[in-house]
Amino acid sequence: MGKDVIVACDFDSMEKTLAFLDRFTGRKPFVKIGMELFYAEGPAIVREIKQRGHKIFLDLKLHDIPNTVKKAMAVLSRLDVDICNLHAAGTVRMMEAAIEGLTRPDGTRPLLIAVTQLTSTDQEALEQDLWIERPMDQVVMHYAKNAAKAGLDGVVCSPLEAGKVHEACGTGFLTVTPGVRFADGDKGDQKRVMTPAEAKRIGSDYIVVGRPITAAEDPVEAYERCVKEFVG
Ligand code: C5P
Repeated sequence: MGKDVIVACDFDSMEKTLAFLDRFTGRKPFVKIGMELFYAEGPAIVREIKQRGHKIFLDLKLHDIPNTVKKAMAVLSRLDVDICNLHAAGTVRMMEAAIEGLTRPDGTRPLLIAVTQLTSTDQEALEQDLWIERPMDQVVMHYAKNAAKAGLDGVVCSPLEAGKVHEACGTGFLTVTPGVRFADGDKGDQKRVMTPAEAKRIGSDYIVVGRPITAAEDPVEAYERCVKEFVG
């Protein structure tokens, strides 16, 4: 898989999601299904979107004891998603167990990426709530290296961190970056943002774009604009 734009389908029903995807005649965007949609519709939404020919990033951010994560990943693997994820905070052992669970009898598996620290966690919360007394960028890099050590394929990170992650873990280690906005667009609740063109320059492998596409007057045009800027 190469550079691509992943559309965050943050809808609360199958009906709204399929109506949205129906607008893309002749195009099959890479789709991100998050907790809201998955908890609303369950595995059926994954099967339906997959059957329509889209690639799927299932963003469920697993974090539990290794055995539980291993078994849950085996279920997601059978759903035939293309990318899934977990929290690197679950430890290297949990990440290794996740890979075992994801790997199918024929040796293939979906890509697995890790959340390092959520972008909603700031330095103060890191120290006061989590009791991690280190600078955020060091913590992010340490967790990214743990993910690489466990055999994962990459991390979800801010586009601002993508360059550093590639330096620390190699250019083949995927960086999947949300927080993307058009230069003339509304930032919404995202604080540290980059345009698709900037994300491309800094070396993001995939950008995850939600509202700039889903809330656009013409989502297909917004998607095409994103692809043009990011993929070229
Ligand atoms: O609408 P917007 O483009 O902000 O959507 C970004 C998507 O990426 C959302 O689904 C959000 O949950 C997800 N995300 C994020 N920041 C992270 C991890 C995931 O915005 N650090």
